Amino acid sequence: ATAPADWDAPLAGTVAVVTGAARGIGATIAEVLSRDGAHVICADIPAAGEGLSTTANKVGGTALAVDVTADDAADKIAEAVKKQGGRLDILVNNAGITRDKLLANMDAARWNSVLSVNLLAPQKLTEKLVDLGVLGKGGRVVDVSSIAGIAGNRGQTNYGTSKAGVIGLVDTHSDAYAGQGITINAVAPGFIETDMTAAIPFATREVGRRMNAMQQGGQTVDVAETVAYFASPSSAAVTGNVVRVCGQSLL
Ligand code: NAI
Repeated sequence: ATAPADWDAPLAGTVAVVTGAARGIGATIAEVLSRDGAHVICADIPAAGEGLSTTANKVGGTALAVDVTADDAADKIAEAVKKQGGRLDILVNNAGITRDKLLANMDAARWNSVLSVNLLAPQKLTEKLVDLGVLGKGGRVVDVSSIAGIAGNRGQTNYGTSKAGVIGLVDTHSDAYAGQGITINAVAPGFIETDMTAAIPFATREVGRRMNAMQQGGQTVDVAETVAYFASPSSAAVTGNVVRVCGQSLL
């Protein structure tokens, strides 16, 4: 690892892309990376509305309206990175969705949309951005998995499978890109208090909180600081890891 030139701004001079940055965990990741000195390109779907420009303005970054599942998503991101000098130092594949149903009512549309956003988009974006020459030596990729990808979760066969897939992706990508000096790691949040979890019925939400051995929901900053560690110059030797954030899951 290389010690940062400036400990107060370890990411000074770097360019980061955070997908799903309009709100929740992604918005806080953008804030923390920006605090550490990165220029953050905040990417989210057009439907995210004002949240995207709010985050981008707050962090002094760039707002980029892009659907991570679109065929041209990597090209759009590469174009935005080129406007910042052409080199992408940090890619955070955070955008994610849930389409929960108990198994009896689970359908193909729910499976496909969840796998497409949560698993195939991180896979394609990472590979295409490397192929386009935007992501290269010294680059950092942080994928957002979930405790549901480690322990499963009732009503989330699609989501749990997508997030387990992300762990497989980290294992294989970290090996595939080690020779090019790119690290690939993941965070696996437990129950974090965001709009995504606020949509869960109250009783299930309480169970979510209590499934954490620390008996509380985590905050977005808990996840964001772990992402910042994987992005920092000090973690250059760390690749292929999945860090659980938010207590020890009792699932
Ligand atoms: P959220 O729903 O508050 O935010 C997700 C963001 O992703 C939204 O702004 C949304 O517009 C964006 N997004 C969705 N589809 C997109 C697409 N196709 N292209 C671009 N952007 C898209 O969710 P939250 O809670 O902030 O979750 C962030 C990540 O953390 C997700 O990957 C989620 O699965 C993961 N996670 C969240 C946990 C929690 O307890 N909140 C627990 C474990 C993992």
